[in-house]
Amino acid sequence: MSIHIGAAAGEIAETVLMPGDPYRAKWVAETFLSDATCINEVRGMLGFTGTWQGHRVTVHGSGMGMPSLSIYANELIRDYGAKTLIRIGSCGAMQESVKIRDVIIAMTASTLSTPSQGFFKELNFAPCADWHLLSHAVAAAEQRGITPHVGGIYSSDVFYDERPDLNEQMTRHGILAVEMEAAELYTVAARHGARALAVLTVSDHLLTHEALPAADRERSFGDMVDIALHAAFD
Ligand code: HPA
Repeated sequence: MSIHIGAAAGEIAETVLMPGDPYRAKWVAETFLSDATCINEVRGMLGFTGTWQGHRVTVHGSGMGMPSLSIYANELIRDYGAKTLIRIGSCGAMQESVKIRDVIIAMTASTLSTPSQGFFKELNFAPCADWHLLSHAVAAAEQRGITPHVGGIYSSDVFYDERPDLNEQMTRHGILAVEMEAAELYTVAARHGARALAVLTVSDHLLTHEALPAADRERSFGDMVDIALHAAFD
């Protein structure tokens, strides 16, 4: 047991997929894994371990936002020995060229504020994805007929009342989309020698104000899981 995860020692795999929503973790385990068992339900943050194509995999919710993800990523790596962590989640597009349902593979994650800011102070640390995971995720997406956008994203601390001036600068500097977790995942993984990646689908558009219909979310989510699993094990 760690402070926020109830799993026993050895119950968490070296490869962990991290959706924000704990019920997405349950859906992934039921849909993609064999012999999955629930290994955590502390505070309703569900985690499951099972196998995919013979590989042991854990799917564990991160919660929303960097402070929540930071707790789980730290404990998964430091207390349970996780070595590969892949966020699967949604994002809001910040470029006209990015459309609803598109897949984004985040090479870097810019951020204004993360739980890691205390380490870096005036330094603008550049959180980046693991190259091996990123290149394999791109190949896995292309093999499924999906052309992903690969580039920088923005990890915000707020969903509502975002700073319009900051969003404008992100768009101006080619940032593909906004979400709320990847920068801290990349930073914590870097700090502890783990590999990290974020595979995202566009659920809403900050420029056109379109949104993915609820009925389409599951299919998009399935594509991400498939890409993430292949990235981890190909
Ligand atoms: N902002 C922040 N996080 C998000 C968004 C957004 O518009 N869409 C999906 N995750």
